[in-house]
Amino acid sequence: MNNGPLLFLGIFFTIAFSWSGIVLTNLVQQTEAGATQPLFDKDTEKVVPAPMTGDAKQGQQVYAELGCVYCHSQQVRNSLSRDGGTSVDVERNYGRRPNVARDYIQDGRIFLGTMRTGPDLRNVGQRLPSVDWHMQHLYNPQITSKDSIMPPFPFLFEEREIVGEPSPKALRLTGDWAPPPGYEVVPTARAEALVAYLLSLRTDYDLPEAPKSVE
Ligand code: HEC
Repeated sequence: MNNGPLLFLGIFFTIAFSWSGIVLTNLVQQTEAGATQPLFDKDTEKVVPAPMTGDAKQGQQVYAELGCVYCHSQQVRNSLSRDGGTSVDVERNYGRRPNVARDYIQDGRIFLGTMRTGPDLRNVGQRLPSVDWHMQHLYNPQITSKDSIMPPFPFLFEEREIVGEPSPKALRLTGDWAPPPGYEVVPTARAEALVAYLLSLRTDYDLPEAPKSVE
């Protein structure tokens, strides 16, 4: 008795069936999920959410390595306040509207976070758009935010002797924070990438499925 061909067919159809189940249904779902693709906004002629720049992508890696997610969330929640029915997080100035799933479509790894030892950072690029501010804050949070309990990240900077002209990137530190005369504190590539990432965190566009932004 030779059951070889029957056995082959059995195995073939089992594999073909599971393959189509896993691969094909996924493909169909992806094409149906037009709503989760980035959107071309006709008014601003931009793709929203905008893809991350290379610098910001590297900065996201630094954000992961340094564990910023342990103290910061990245989600403006839609929990409503009792009286006005607006989002509590919007009232806190964490963003102009609650976030929805599509806001994260360009992120790759998503740092929603649960802890809010510090403020939500999903829109920190809108709230605090100054590179200088972020550099000083990362070097030591107490420079910009008196009595801050956020840890300093001095290893993202280099204190070095000024050779020739001072660097235009040198931190403007005064008083007790200033380096010794003849020295300057300059950001490393990791600091620059991290700040590029922080500045890229902004929800300054509308989406059809999201609540409207407040002014
Ligand atoms: C131990 C908790 C903790 C960790 C870890 C931490 N932070 Fe903070 N962060 C805070 C607190 C508290 C504040 C509020 C006080 C202040 O401004 O420093 C804050 C404030 C901030 C702000 C200002 C936000 C605003 O709206 O005022 C930024 C930006 C920020 N953190 C970025 C970072 C980044 C980037 C990292 C990782 C490199 C990080 N934080 C790690 C606790 C933390």
